Amino acid sequence: MSDADSQLIRRALLQYLFSYLTFTDRLEHEVVNQTARRLATGASGLDLAAELRLDCYRVYCDEAYHSLFCADLMQQIRHFEEFTFDSGGNHPALDYFHRQIEDCLPEERPWFELFFVIVSETLISGVLSGVPHHAAVIPAVRMLVADHAEDEAGHHRLFSRVCEVAWGQASAALRVKISSLLPDFIVNFLSPDTPAIRAILSGHFTQPATEDIIRESYPEEQSRQAVASASRSTVRLFERIGMMERAETREAFERRGLFLRAVGGRT
Ligand SMILES: [Fe+2]
Ligand SMILES: [Fe+2]
Repeated sequence: MSDADSQLIRRALLQYLFSYLTFTDRLEHEVVNQTARRLATGASGLDLAAELRLDCYRVYCDEAYHSLFCADLMQQIRHFEEFTFDSGGNHPALDYFHRQIEDCLPEERPWFELFFVIVSETLISGVLSGVPHHAAVIPAVRMLVADHAEDEAGHHRLFSRVCEVAWGQASAALRVKISSLLPDFIVNFLSPDTPAIRAILSGHFTQPATEDIIRESYPEEQSRQAVASASRSTVRLFERIGMMERAETREAFERRGLFLRAVGGRT
């Protein structure tokens, strides 16, 4: 490989790293910590045990730190590398979140946000589970992701408990609405960051070639399997609290390829 080629690949990887760090940073303070703060202070309106509320304060601090270490790493990299970062737009999860929030009735909004956060806090993404063990990834990034994954394992336990409590306190109408949206929460959250990938490729390829590369790199069936696998424990949680008892909910999950796989029926 020529020097020019390896320089090009290095730039593309840096762009993608910045997309990931920017998404993590924004997710923590734009989404997760809004809900964590409401849970911690009692502003959520949920009847939460005092020790759970205190744990939500801890999550609030953890997430602020996750934002900080992403911003810090980007600043350190910028110190050594001069390049212009183009995010290509919002990550699909943030885009979806902000669009849906606009359409929510004011009284539904905190519930929508809470369950979006429950999804994000209970999924086990391929990045969190895989990157810390990936020898090709530079140590600073591996350590950052490993540190994050360790905290998120604790958040997973806490938000599983919060989910159980919240579901028990949601009205019947809210339960129907939330459970119908959950499969979309999951799929959008775990979708590849195509705006970022498009931004990287479009500087070097024509638009049709860019779209071909994205399609070939993320085959539909492979993406569905990755989503089903990363969401397995979240779907099991929903099943455990009785959410799947409603046939329409089960069907909504099945349509997205989530439910049967998660309970071990097809994989
Ligand atoms: Fe986090
Ligand atoms: Fe978290």
